[in-house]
Amino acid sequence: MSEPTVVVLNGPNLNLLGEREPEIYGHDTLGDVEALCRKAASLAGLAIDFRQSNHEGVLIDAIHETRTTAVGFVINAGALTHTSIALRDAVATIPAPVFEVHLSNVHAREEFRHHSYLSAVSTGVIVGCGPSGYAYAVARISELVLSRP
Ligand code: DQA
Repeated sequence: MSEPTVVVLNGPNLNLLGEREPEIYGHDTLGDVEALCRKAASLAGLAIDFRQSNHEGVLIDAIHETRTTAVGFVINAGALTHTSIALRDAVATIPAPVFEVHLSNVHAREEFRHHSYLSAVSTGVIVGCGPSGYAYAVARISELVLSRP
């Protein structure tokens, strides 16, 4: 039997991690973030389905494809966090735990980053912890999965 899978979704511009505004987002690439997620998951006996898209509809389709099979989701929707009701509605259909993650502390930045359409439909929110935030989210999903009756 294959391992239970955590889906990690990354939104627009996160493919440029490491090059893009490193003073805010750091020097790690999205590949480094993926490696961190895989390490955290393997410690917990979980698999990772790691994806990035610059397109809202592709992210929504990815949720529709995996929403009933994944044991948890880690979502950094990038700027779509602050704009997309459609993504929010897709996240609201997920029965498994969902963690919204942001590398930067969005609350210490521009006002337009303070509101998230996803927070109210997420299990938890992790901001300002850099790539480690993804690993914390995977660890929390593993706790929730293991404590399931
Ligand atoms: C981000 C924060 C968003 O406001 C921004 O648009 C991003 C990255 C973060 O990880 O800190 O693209 O989600």
